[in-house]
Amino acid sequence: MTRGLESKSPLLQVQELAVRYLAHRDVLRGVSFELTTGDTLGICGESGSGKSTLVRALLGLIPVARGDIRWFGRSVDSHGTAQWRALRRTVQPVFQDPLASLDPRMRVLDSLAEPLQVHRSDLGRAAREERVAIALERVGLTDAALPRYPHELSGGQCQRVCIARAMILEPSVLVCDEPVSALDVSVQAQIVALLADLQRDSGTALIFVSHNLAIVRRLCRRVLILRQGNIVAAGSSLDVLGNPADAYTRRLIAAVPAVPRPASGQET
Ligand SMILES: Nc1ncnc2c1ncn2[C@@H]1O[C@H](COP(=O)(O)OP(=O)(O)OP(=O)(O)O)[C@@H](O)[C@H]1O
Ligand SMILES: [Mg+2]
Repeated sequence: MTRGLESKSPLLQVQELAVRYLAHRDVLRGVSFELTTGDTLGICGESGSGKSTLVRALLGLIPVARGDIRWFGRSVDSHGTAQWRALRRTVQPVFQDPLASLDPRMRVLDSLAEPLQVHRSDLGRAAREERVAIALERVGLTDAALPRYPHELSGGQCQRVCIARAMILEPSVLVCDEPVSALDVSVQAQIVALLADLQRDSGTALIFVSHNLAIVRRLCRRVLILRQGNIVAAGSSLDVLGNPADAYTRRLIAAVPAVPRPASGQET
């Protein structure tokens, strides 16, 4: 079979998804797409276009009004507690505000060990601590971070801890909702570079929500553009962002600055 044309198994199939909050109007309408193993998918759109709503629906944090979300070939409609638990192990989120994502009363060591305690009770303490050390190193932090509390870390260091925590269970999918928007611009570039390295090395699929199309272009092979809850453009990032066919996408592109390169040796 020709390389690159082999069919990859879909991790996620979303069909005609509609989501609404309480009695409000639908904030997502007829959203359909797929994610395959190791794929990188950017989700872009103006503020209020439904990006975070889509992420919340994919993670099972809000109910689906119509349509279908299938993870690993199975509709979330039929998911019981055991299926959600298995999904939470293999589909890991990273959110915008790293400080709010970490438990303020837990040291970094405990924040990183917790997912292993919950999902990998087969591992002993030594094996857990070894995995914590490896995860920390992979995100560019040293042992010095282990005894610290989140408020003793910078925003960039906190987001590195959140990424380490998300990756420690070797997930199939990392779902990031604006993971660098709350960080300083120079730190943003370092975290983007880290995510690119981790994705390449681990082959974890990536769903990356951002209003910054330059970052999406750097990280994601494919992209969806959302406007008022509808997909208005979809395809390879090169085509959709390099040669935008619609005025809305062109406006989004014009609104973002270029991604700065990470300064070498800079501590975040
Ligand atoms: N909890 C909620 N209750 C009611 N409406 C909501 C709720 N959360 C979001 N919305 C509405 O749903 C729409 C989509 O919001 P969403 O947060 O998904 O947008 P977004 O694309 O993530 O925006 P941003 O770029 O600002 O994060 C908006 O009109 C918003 O006002
Ligand atoms: Mg959002």
